[in-house]
Amino acid sequence: MKPELLSLPERFPKSSTYDPNWLLSLDMGPNPLWQLEELWPSLDLRSGQHVLDVGSGGGATAVFLAREAGVSVDAVDLWVAAEVAAETYREMGVEHLVRPLHGDVRTMELPEAGYDAIVSLDAWEYFGTDVHFLPQLVAALKPGGVLGFVTPSLRDDPYLIDPLPVLADTVGFELLSWHPASWWAKHTHLTGNLAEVQAWVPKDSLDLWLRWEEAVESVTPMRNALTAYRQLGGDTPALGLVHVTGRKLI
Ligand SMILES: C[S@@+](CC[C@H](N)C(=O)[O-])C[C@H]1O[C@@H](n2cnc3c(N)ncnc32)[C@H](O)[C@@H]1O
Repeated sequence: MKPELLSLPERFPKSSTYDPNWLLSLDMGPNPLWQLEELWPSLDLRSGQHVLDVGSGGGATAVFLAREAGVSVDAVDLWVAAEVAAETYREMGVEHLVRPLHGDVRTMELPEAGYDAIVSLDAWEYFGTDVHFLPQLVAALKPGGVLGFVTPSLRDDPYLIDPLPVLADTVGFELLSWHPASWWAKHTHLTGNLAEVQAWVPKDSLDLWLRWEEAVESVTPMRNALTAYRQLGGDTPALGLVHVTGRKLI
């Protein structure tokens, strides 16, 4: 592990205050705190608000939301048991603000107009492409509330242009959900009936993803794939994480 790589105080002042060893111990993919901090200005969170974190995994982002904004969080995850995440929330002193929930967001009952914001970091690829998903999720958002999610994204749509074999061999059919930003903008606007939809891949997205892999010191096919995509160059990274936000109409 190279925890020192996670300190980027100028790019991510908030995330850089968190113990990198703690963050790496919760690793389930590229740094979720960087993703959330990139979304942060669009979320406009205020203390006392109620937030749903979808696919919260080990719980790093729910801790961040509770600590940085003073919001209460329902942290929903399918693969991580609620008791395991609860331990993290206790250790980090936010158990009074974060409620761990175990379940499948596609089928679980959510409170009607219950949340000021819904966020999801590196989980949308597992359910977000279904045109029937967003209408039921947006029902849980208060009018005027904000949705913000982050998910892997290819510059060239995988249905139109074959991804590099090194990535296809690594990710398999799941790659078909790694759509470009324009696809996600249209899909989110139309299926969620959301306004002010923005979808962007930060210019340094691929470099940041690789930096995370280097911090984890993973010698994985994914690292090779990211390196191959970096060699393609271009203004928008050929592979990265798309950040999408939208507001529910009042
Ligand atoms: C790649 S991990 C990312 C976890 C965490 N957000 C992070 O970045 O560390 C994807 C997460 O999505 C969750 N997930 C996948 N499908 C889900 C579903 N249908 N409902 C709720 N969570 C789901 C998994 O349980 C997993 O923890």
